[in-house]
Amino acid sequence: MNPFDLTGRLAVVTGAKRGIGFAMAEALAAAGADVIGVSATIEPEGSAIGRRVTALGRSFRALRADFNDPQAVADLAATLAAEPVDILVNNAGTIRRAPAAEHSDAFWDEVLQVNLTSQFALARAVGGAMLERGYGKIVFTASLLSFQGGINVPGYAAAKAGVAGLTKALANEWTGRGVTVNAIAPGYIATDNTQALQDDPDRSRAILERIPAGRWGRPEDLAGATVFLASAASDYVSGTVLPVDGGWLGR
Ligand SMILES: NC(=O)c1ccc[n+]([C@@H]2O[C@H](COP(=O)([O-])OP(=O)(O)OC[C@H]3O[C@@H](n4cnc5c(N)ncnc54)[C@H](OP(=O)(O)O)[C@@H]3O)[C@@H](O)[C@H]2O)c1
Repeated sequence: MNPFDLTGRLAVVTGAKRGIGFAMAEALAAAGADVIGVSATIEPEGSAIGRRVTALGRSFRALRADFNDPQAVADLAATLAAEPVDILVNNAGTIRRAPAAEHSDAFWDEVLQVNLTSQFALARAVGGAMLERGYGKIVFTASLLSFQGGINVPGYAAAKAGVAGLTKALANEWTGRGVTVNAIAPGYIATDNTQALQDDPDRSRAILERIPAGRWGRPEDLAGATVFLASAASDYVSGTVLPVDGGWLGR
């Protein structure tokens, strides 16, 4: 028995079109899971992640939904609750950068809606259906800003601290009923989300100097933790926020 084997499991990955979500969906498929990939702009047919998952011999379906639209999220939640989802990776997220004194209501509302409120709506619906079947694995994408405050991103820090709290709240209620709930806190990963930091020589150097691994992370660095938290290997792990950060938090 391989405790990391996901053969026969159905996984939903939000934000699967690119970046970290792409690598997570790919890793789950490589471990044996069929995948439903969700994002705001994913192509109904022929997406890059869809082609990658099917090349790995697994089925793929794309669902498009804008997480800044509560009705679209409610519709998506109802669709997914009717599917036999074993693994929910709540990864889609956005970031808006502006100093706190100039951080607009629009920035705050969008980041809280996409990164926290929509995550709860999906977890409530899909997790509720998992509870009826007595089995499920929920994995959120948290952040180093679940632990720290960051700079110029107050809404993002508040949302990601909220994701850590939500992970623990759901785990307390659901673990004893067969549904584990955990989060991965990626360090500084080179994706579109961090392009502004990568393009700022001072910030980029300061960040790199603090990473014991000596390099920025890559999306595929999240693969192992994702499969672990989605598989039987983590059946006695719940309510945890697992940093995958090249050692950043130890400094
Ligand atoms: N990169 C890092 O260093 C880092 C560190 C810690 C945490 N994270 C978190 O990791 C997650 C993935 O980020 P990433 O770095 O992979 O960023 P990314 O490359 O910008 O990808 C974000 C993904 O989320 C989707 N998304 C964004 N806004 C959405 C919306 N309104 N509705 C539906 N989907 C939406 C995007 O969909 P489309 O492709 O359709 O636009 C995309 O697939 C986020 O939760 C982020 O906060 C990232």
